[in-house]
Amino acid sequence: MTERGIPIPHAPGFIANKTPRIVTSRFDYEDSFTIARYEETGGYQGLRTALSRTPEAVHGEVRDASLLGRGGAGFPAGVKWGFCPPGVWPRYLVVNGDESEPGTYKDRLLMELDPHQLIEGCLIACYAIGLSQCFLYVRGEMAVAQERIAQALNEAYEAGYIGKNILGTEFSVDIVLHWGAGAYVVGEETALIESLEGNRGMPRLKPPYFPASIGLYGQPTIVNNVETLSNLPWILSNGFEAFKAIGTETSPGTRMVAVSGHVKRPGVYEIVNGTTTFRDLIYGETMCGGIRNDAALKAFVPGGGSAPWFTADQLDLPFEASQVGPEGSMLGSGAIMVMDETTDIPAAALTLTKFYAHESCGKCVPCREGGTWLEQIMRRIVNGSGTKRDLDLLIEVGETICPGDFPHASNKEKGLSAVPFPYKMTTICFVGPSAFAPVHSALTLFKEEFEAKVAGNSDRNYVEVTISA
Ligand SMILES: Cc1cc2nc3c(=O)[nH]c(=O)nc-3n(C[C@H](O)[C@H](O)[C@H](O)COP(=O)(O)O)c2cc1C
Ligand code: SF4
Repeated sequence: MTERGIPIPHAPGFIANKTPRIVTSRFDYEDSFTIARYEETGGYQGLRTALSRTPEAVHGEVRDASLLGRGGAGFPAGVKWGFCPPGVWPRYLVVNGDESEPGTYKDRLLMELDPHQLIEGCLIACYAIGLSQCFLYVRGEMAVAQERIAQALNEAYEAGYIGKNILGTEFSVDIVLHWGAGAYVVGEETALIESLEGNRGMPRLKPPYFPASIGLYGQPTIVNNVETLSNLPWILSNGFEAFKAIGTETSPGTRMVAVSGHVKRPGVYEIVNGTTTFRDLIYGETMCGGIRNDAALKAFVPGGGSAPWFTADQLDLPFEASQVGPEGSMLGSGAIMVMDETTDIPAAALTLTKFYAHESCGKCVPCREGGTWLEQIMRRIVNGSGTKRDLDLLIEVGETICPGDFPHASNKEKGLSAVPFPYKMTTICFVGPSAFAPVHSALTLFKEEFEAKVAGNSDRNYVEVTISA
């Protein structure tokens, strides 16, 4: 129980392994979230180092570290910071703690177990780019994270780390904690900004304007992920060379990944970026330990529910975007969902599609209508009342969201294994394509399971209508 009597949810938690620990170094302490433990273990030293340098030098350190954003797109933080137009003030920092992508629960642990590390990261970012106010947006359902961050903010204000003239310098900044209302789409940065402004959480059209130039209240705004910012104290304390000594040139440092599904030890792992392979993670003795009951692997989702699926053929790919991309998927939010040989593939795809159809904000027709259509067609296939025609219909509806020359389920000549990713899209944000990605993957990789579900049903045999009095 927390102080307010909120039960601490029992969920697969963090599992330590031999990886160098940058962002999870305090997770083993029971009081990891307190300022006393934080200061005792080197906390706020990165901020002190930053304040002893010029903002430009701190920005340069982060740019040289090539810290890739951990929210999904993997864009380098130091480069993004440089997009703020010169001379335009005030500027804001928005921390994206909305984490709602299916399978993703790493940021929640960072917020619950080491909130001071995140706060210190926010302060370093604000100092480096002259941001005068920080908004920390936490997903609505994450009550423990909200409470721990609120407590940490109070402690940090009291200790002089936040507020006016921080640690006796000219640097002043305020951090505001904001609780979301639990919408997945608000994780998209412009929808998050709309929500912060008090509007409905619907994404803005971009281009032309990205938040770094016109964001919150029309001002330059940097939106960064919780894990991205949590890396900053370590980088400032240890230097960019030490950070780049871990991982690879193009994917330095570590990254947190959340593994769920049919593995022996699901949980969050901090792994070496760029070199750790999916096989290391899923089968490694110090990691997930293999598939439950030693069953065979059927498929896995490599980067959150929106990512196209992989099979055992891709197990030896490392966590390196430049290698995963050409294979037709993405590392996304760092969530790996593992399916063993017993998985009903159409049913698994339906679960994901249902989520994205439900979370559509409704602003674009192809997403609002198409997602629902996909869900309905998938539902009747899974229920056994689908038809052979439905297999093509799935792709036709998908093509209205993601236009392209998709291999149709009935067209063997086109080669069903070709996955044209990243998809083109007719929608403002990626929620629309996300409803289609699981359907497309499942149908492409396991067409026989769909055929078995519709076998024997004629093309006019739609029977899934239940009317009750
Ligand atoms: C539908 C959708 C949901 C998203 N959800 C999140 C989220 O929960 N957390 C997050 O950090 N980024 C999320 N993103 C990515 C953000 O738009 C943004 O790129 C990210 O917060 C930038 O932080 P980074 O550069 O530190 O990765 C989402 C994007 C989309 C399209
Ligand atoms: S793609 Fe979907 S969630 Fe995104 S803006 Fe359009 S309707 Fe809203």
